Amino acid sequence: MSDVQQTLERIASASDLHALDAMRVEALGKSGWVTGLLKTLGQMSPEERQTRGPEIQAIRTQVTDAIAERKAALEAAELERKLATERLDLSLPAPERPQGSVHPVSQVMDELAEIFADLGFAVAEGPEIETDWYNFTALNMPESHPARAMHDTFYCEPRDGEPARVLRTHTSPVQIRAMQQHGAPLRLIAPGRVYRSDSDATHTPMFHQIEGVVIDRSIHMGHLKWTLETFLKAFFERDDVAIRLRPSYFPFTEPSAEVDVGWSTVKGRRVVGGQEGWMEVLGSGMVHPRVIAAAGLDPDEWQGFAFGTGVDRLAMLKYGMNDLRAFFDGDLRWLKHYGFNALAVPTLSAGVGA
Ligand code: DAH
Repeated sequence: MSDVQQTLERIASASDLHALDAMRVEALGKSGWVTGLLKTLGQMSPEERQTRGPEIQAIRTQVTDAIAERKAALEAAELERKLATERLDLSLPAPERPQGSVHPVSQVMDELAEIFADLGFAVAEGPEIETDWYNFTALNMPESHPARAMHDTFYCEPRDGEPARVLRTHTSPVQIRAMQQHGAPLRLIAPGRVYRSDSDATHTPMFHQIEGVVIDRSIHMGHLKWTLETFLKAFFERDDVAIRLRPSYFPFTEPSAEVDVGWSTVKGRRVVGGQEGWMEVLGSGMVHPRVIAAAGLDPDEWQGFAFGTGVDRLAMLKYGMNDLRAFFDGDLRWLKHYGFNALAVPTLSAGVGA
């Protein structure tokens, strides 16, 4: 027993957690002496076990408790010491965390979706690898149509028994898919990537467009003009946005109009608003009866307008970038400068909702 007493005293005065753990192993470890005592129980006669058993268990409990007690005391002392000696300097600046930003194209697509949602437009999507039929034929550009030449197309390798495919050259094929899928009446926008075999300061092989289409029984050019004017005012966040419709030609609309927006000079920069000059921003028109028929609707019952424009160009005009290629370089400095805070409260929709 004096052995036990000695051990308990050593435990009670253990100087640190490391020494205490060594004592634990010495007593309770696999070949510790308490463990050794417990093992002797197996060889004892039942009578002997009856008296020695409780004694040995009591030793084990005493040692275990003493270790736990000393451990708690040492830990509390350690905490006290840390609290007394360690200080957090809360005035030090926190390490800067790299923060992402919203790409201007994503920002503008969100702004557009928000503006058109206020006008009751749904958002539709279509495939970027599109069949020749949806991209051209259904839009009144049959195989030999010269307008096809205006689209510098990426053609996909033809596969046996499958329809010819291209990387879609515009978002207009989504009009056809939407009419087929939802029928009429219909009011939607279709933003997305489009592709043309073209590359210079103002053209990249991939860019973004947004298409709009409204089909109903008595939609006319007046609705088109109002919608575009309302959208452009909300987008550029100015009430003095003027538009001009110029007669034009698109195979999928009749009549067709190109839409110019008025600009003026502010601090040497051209900004949208005012009427110092005009620049083209949109293509539009009344959906051609052949297009409505190709999508499976009766052109004697349904009519409507459509428009299409470049999202990247809208972003450049609104936020003052001048090189389209920079949009897709992935240069972090550019993104830091022109990107948007993901958590910022949107500034938009005020123009249209009110
Ligand atoms: N799809 C045309 C293009 O990429 C743009 C366009 C013009 C779309 C007139 C339309 C439209 O919906 O009515 O050049």
